Amino acid sequence: MRDIVIFVSGSGSNMQRIVEYFRGRGQVCVAKVFCNRPDALALKRAEQFGIPTAVFGKDALYRSDAVLCALQSLSPDLIVLAGFLWKIPENIIHAFPGKIVNIHPALLPRYGGKGMYGEHVHRAVLAHGDTESGITIHYVNENYDEGDIIFQAKCCVDREDTPDTLAKKIHALEYEHFPAVIEKLLIIPK
Ligand code: GAR
Repeated sequence: MRDIVIFVSGSGSNMQRIVEYFRGRGQVCVAKVFCNRPDALALKRAEQFGIPTAVFGKDALYRSDAVLCALQSLSPDLIVLAGFLWKIPENIIHAFPGKIVNIHPALLPRYGGKGMYGEHVHRAVLAHGDTESGITIHYVNENYDEGDIIFQAKCCVDREDTPDTLAKKIHALEYEHFPAVIEKLLIIPK
């Protein structure tokens, strides 16, 4: 059995999709969901699946080893960022080399970096008149959205797309590919 933990900040629909994908397959267990917002819908979703949750603030992540120690005690095979909007600090990156992955709702290296998340990304893609967008799954390093790319998938951006309709297309790609990419990483680690 491989254990993963998932970091979330908001809705948690990717987290739910990952949980559903692995439920019943008996190979991968979502051991815990870590969340930086006590009011996040993701926490309710995790609780509905009976997955333990941990809510933490900036002190626990950046000014102490609290989150690091919690992770070390779980010793996960993979740490998955699924809509997690804070930067992962160096102490955690160094403790889990090649074991932290993120999903980004655009084709990196375009539209990455601080402040580039969710709707902001889709607005930027539309403002630039791009005819395609997509998703990027990548390893996490010290800089926002700059780690080695593992996987990308594309979708068309149509003239009539809005941030909402583009977000739906991107989420569909994420649901289709993210769990399968995680599964592959766990079977053939870096
Ligand atoms: C996803 O589209 C994910 O790619 C994006 O946040 C959304 C979370 O949705 N992540 C980022 O923008 C990170 N920079 P969800 O909470 O419903 O899974």
